[in-house]
Amino acid sequence: MEIKTTLLPESQRKCSTIKDAESLPFGKLRSDHMLLIDYAKGVWKDARIVPYGSLSIMPGAVALHYGQSIFEGAKAFMHEDGELYAFRLEENAKRLNVSANQLCMPEIPVDVQVEGMMKLLDVERKWCPMQPESSLYVRPFMIGTEDALGMAPSSTYTFCVLLSPSGAYYSGGFKHAVRLLVTERYHRAVSGGTGSAKCCGNYGQAFQAARFSKKYDASQVLYLDASNQYIEEVGSMNHFHITKDKTVVIPEFTDSILRSITSLSVMELLPSLGYKVRQERVKITEFLDGIRSGEIIEAGGFGTAAVVTPVSEYIFENGDILTVGDGGIGENTRKIYEAYTAIQTGKAADKLGWLQKV
Ligand code: PLP
Ligand code: COI
Repeated sequence: MEIKTTLLPESQRKCSTIKDAESLPFGKLRSDHMLLIDYAKGVWKDARIVPYGSLSIMPGAVALHYGQSIFEGAKAFMHEDGELYAFRLEENAKRLNVSANQLCMPEIPVDVQVEGMMKLLDVERKWCPMQPESSLYVRPFMIGTEDALGMAPSSTYTFCVLLSPSGAYYSGGFKHAVRLLVTERYHRAVSGGTGSAKCCGNYGQAFQAARFSKKYDASQVLYLDASNQYIEEVGSMNHFHITKDKTVVIPEFTDSILRSITSLSVMELLPSLGYKVRQERVKITEFLDGIRSGEIIEAGGFGTAAVVTPVSEYIFENGDILTVGDGGIGENTRKIYEAYTAIQTGKAADKLGWLQKV
């Protein structure tokens, strides 16, 4: 698809602002341009890169009332050779289409999405930060734009990609492990719902659980399934644990868990690092007993923004606290984090073919 490009004159671009930023926030800054593609009458058309700015949609747009709104999250990294590399954009594009199907939205061809993201990254390459743990975060999304209040899928859509030069998702980055509140009070998703889609409703409804977790000085909630028996995931990452025989266990992807590209990637990488890997339904009681007995030595989360995030403590509503290992960052979690980010940042060979040069 032809992409029309209307760029700001050099003098109006702002990318010098990030060069001096010492610690970059996650997701707050924007680059100068965005990609837009519109859909009407069954056709994606009018692909364009334009200056970043407001979208004009009608107040009756379906996305605003009935949540026809899906998104993705990917990253690009500046390597020491001065080139920009995007990480597995094709996987994100495929998953956007999985979400689109679940929300009765139109698919957008994977090659159109990838070409659009690559072209935008090319235009904005100077925006990629170089600080440790930073990246040029890529946020594609699609919204239903028809001005119609009848409860039915929109007939028109906009696909947009914005870029955000970003630092670590959890403040402090990999230096700090996070604490998770285990609760039976809130559930992220149920079987038959949209938990495996990356749709906005899953995130808006999670704010109240996150707010509740702050009362316990936790970073987030560890969600259980609706029967309160099995571990599901965290609001922005899959969960994992590591047993003392060096097996990494990730809860099986059900229809209420997001199929994390980070989890899938780490699972591909783990055998070469000497780990076994297993996906299975994880009973919360057995998981907690495993920590108490020392059978489980480390735990954490996998996600694009979260990368590999260690968990130090599980907190309970009655005030109990269960510490994982010695409460620090375990050596296995560190090894996985380092191996994974070394590939992303070009410090180790990309043997699995994850990176695409922009
Ligand atoms: N689970 C949820 C609910 C998420 O929002 C994310 C982030 O995208 C993940 C897991 C991790 O998925 P990925 O590794 O594809 O970013
Ligand atoms: C990502 O990891 O890219 C996500 O989309 C999670 C988001 C909630 C920050």
